[in-house]
Amino acid sequence: MKQIKIAIDGPASSGKSTVAKILAEKLRYTYLDTGAMYRSVTYLTLKEGLSEGMVEEILATLDQHPISFKRSSQDQQLVFVGDEDVTDAIRQNDVTQNVSWVAAIPEVRERLVEMQREIASKGGIIMDGRDIGTVVLPDAELKIFLVASVEERAQRRFKENQEKGIPSDLEAIKTSIEERDYKDSHRETSPLKPAEDAILFDTTGVSIEGVTDFILEKAKEILDKP
Ligand code: DC
Repeated sequence: MKQIKIAIDGPASSGKSTVAKILAEKLRYTYLDTGAMYRSVTYLTLKEGLSEGMVEEILATLDQHPISFKRSSQDQQLVFVGDEDVTDAIRQNDVTQNVSWVAAIPEVRERLVEMQREIASKGGIIMDGRDIGTVVLPDAELKIFLVASVEERAQRRFKENQEKGIPSDLEAIKTSIEERDYKDSHRETSPLKPAEDAILFDTTGVSIEGVTDFILEKAKEILDKP
């Protein structure tokens, strides 16, 4: 059966990963959360006490603790660095606050993009991130760029944090989202921006189901084409 590559990009908390996971299940495709990879490098960087100029050391620690994805017995996707399960640790505030500077290091991006392309080469894939449609998979058959108001994104992240037991403050989340959006879209290497051939979708006030149905419909149009 024909398989396609689907790129879902957008700013922080725009609903990319929730939607991408559902789509991957429905289409039986591999789902790759590239944000989790940048978060994993950030986790390692902080754990080792490394700072912005220490690019070689950051790459060396990544070599020593390679990122991998596994499935839990409840079929949840788990993220590992070396043999350490960092699934929850990479969502903590210290990682979120530092991920933008780590993700702006060109050598780190080069390393992770290589891994991302390698995973995509194995078949049907849904990848979410910031530069998937522009840099990682410019030949993806379907490119979606999700946006939503800062207010709504902050509310979503706040709820998510509450469910995970991560302490948070709504106003602080809003400020952090705005800062991360700014840094992610103004960095020199692979800034957050829609690919020219991406479909822009504003998810403000739209249910998860509404978003997934829309993307699924677009995917089916492509898959049904002779
Ligand atoms: O999607 P997320 O919030 O988990 O991503 C965390 C950070 O990683 C985000 O602020 C920017 C960076 N990132 C990136 O630069 N490129 C990607 N493809 C994915 C994430």
